[in-house]
Formats: sequence, structure tokens, C-alpha cells
Amino acid sequence: MTRCLRHARHYIASLLLLWGFSMPAAATLFRIGLITPPGHQWTDAADAFASAVATQYGGEHEVIVYPSRQLGTEAQMLQLLQTGALDFAILTVSELSNRLPRFNALYAPYRVGSAQQAAELLGSAAARELLAGLPDELGVIGTGYTMAGMRHILSRKPLAQVQDLQGIKVRITPLAPVRDFYRLLGAAPTPMPLSSVFDALANGQIDAIDMDLESIWTLRYYEYADTLLLSGHMMFPAVGLMSARGSLRLPAHLRQALAALLQQQLEAVLNRYPALEAQWLNQLQATGITITAVDAAWFGEAPVQWQQHTLPP
Ligand code: BEZ
Repeated sequence: MTRCLRHARHYIASLLLLWGFSMPAAATLFRIGLITPPGHQWTDAADAFASAVATQYGGEHEVIVYPSRQLGTEAQMLQLLQTGALDFAILTVSELSNRLPRFNALYAPYRVGSAQQAAELLGSAAARELLAGLPDELGVIGTGYTMAGMRHILSRKPLAQVQDLQGIKVRITPLAPVRDFYRLLGAAPTPMPLSSVFDALANGQIDAIDMDLESIWTLRYYEYADTLLLSGHMMFPAVGLMSARGSLRLPAHLRQALAALLQQQLEAVLNRYPALEAQWLNQLQATGITITAVDAAWFGEAPVQWQQHTLPP
């Protein structure tokens, strides 16, 4: 739709020029990419960022949002940011963690006990410090974090005890710390992008998914798997990124102002997630699926073994 409007604007501008009129100078267009679909909290944040830029810069600068992997996978978007072909992205921290192991610490099982604690940790100076080296290491500037709350296990099979995870195929985000956790539990972690989960669950290719309450509810995964282990075993962080190369084309004040506008929206998501999780849980409870709340003890030694196995000494 936005692209159609732009094309229409260019078409009208060409006509006016032909007739001897002129249009105001075209806005600088910035692009922001992400993998989540419209309606997801991260996509709402990207849309709110675009609105905030429109309000603040009144047509001088404009942000176009590309959700649902329209610009490619997260790895491809990271490459686009590195070359300066993409200006902004909201990516899962897994994309950083796969390259820079210090980010693995954010996936430590039961490091935080709730979405509220996760929001506090991700808003902390210590977490921000992890982003400081990104311009030199990856050619991107980290504006800060957001998240998709806590991870749980939604399964087609009953999960009465941890042994029930033995050998079952659990879809995971392609990410070593998560893979390690499920291997320690004796499950068969199956890496898969978010966009493939619905079909894989519906056609029985996988037995369970490692997922957040937002996706379980809004993407209706619960219709194909009716056991929810409410474990909250990990948080699921995301990061706002700006192209370091692209930002060199901007005056410093604009670069900082745009980064701050994006981060405001990401923090708004971070802060509203705890209340939203409670709401999605209520809605899931109303569907009648089996929901069992468990804590770290349910997972036996795995959370502690994970610390020894995954984190650098
Ligand atoms: C996932 O891979 O599970 C995921 C990715 C982005 C947002 C939410 C979930």
C-alpha cells in the first residue's frame, strides 16, 4: 500500500513537472525490516517508529516498514544493514548470538523468572554494554532491546514429566544456546524459522514448539497442539539495529534522533509485554487446552548443565 502511494506520488510529480509545476522536495526514505507479521508487537513498534518520524519530521524524512521477511531472512537483513542497503531492522538477538557468543548469556535458562524481570534485565546498563562493540564487529549500531517475553513449550503430546521430552522433535529458533538446552533434555531440537512453524505443526512434522505466548495465541498454534507447558524457561530478546555505514550519510543529530525514536518504541513493547502475557494466557486458558505451570526444578539438572556447557568460562 505504502509502495503504491509512493509510486502514485512519483507519477503525479512527473506529470506536474511536465506541466511546469514543481512539488516539494521528496522525503528521505528510510527502510526498516523485520520478520514478524503485521499485528505482532515488534511490527507495531516499527509502525509506531514510522509514525513518530512522520510526526517529528513532517514529510522531510519517511520510514517504510517491511514486515514478514519481505526483505529476506534475518541473516540477509543483517547483510543489507552492513552494506548500507537497509537502514534499520528489528532482529532476534539470535542473529547476533550466532556470531558473537557473549549474547548467549541472554538465553541462560531461568536467569530471569518472569517477563517483568526480563524487561528489567534487557533495560539494564549491563545488557546495553553488550551492544557497544557492534559497529566495529558487525557494522551495525544497536539502539537497544525489546523482547517477545518468555519461552514455553507447546506440545501435541502430553508432558507430565521431563522424561516425556526424550526423543520428541521440538521446533526451536535456529540458535545454539536453545539447541543445547533441548539436547541436554534428551529431546530432538529441530531448528526452523518462525514462518515455517505453522505448517510443520499442522502436518505433524514436529511434536512440539519452543515458543512465546504471543505467537501461540495470535498465530493460533494452540489449534494444532493442546498441551502448554508454561515453563518460562528463557527470555526471547530482540534488538533494534541501525546500519553503521548508512548512518554515516546522516548528520550526527539526525542519526541520534532516529535511533532514539526507534528505541522509544522498542522499550514501550518491553514494558507492556508483562501485562500482555497475562492477557494472552487468559485467552489460552479460555480455549480449554491443558496448561501446566512448571519451574526450573521440573527440568532437573539441565539448567545448571547448560551454564557449564554453553557459556564461555
Ligand atoms: C521465533 O523464532 O520463535 C520467533 C521469532 C520472532 C518473534 C517471535 C518468535
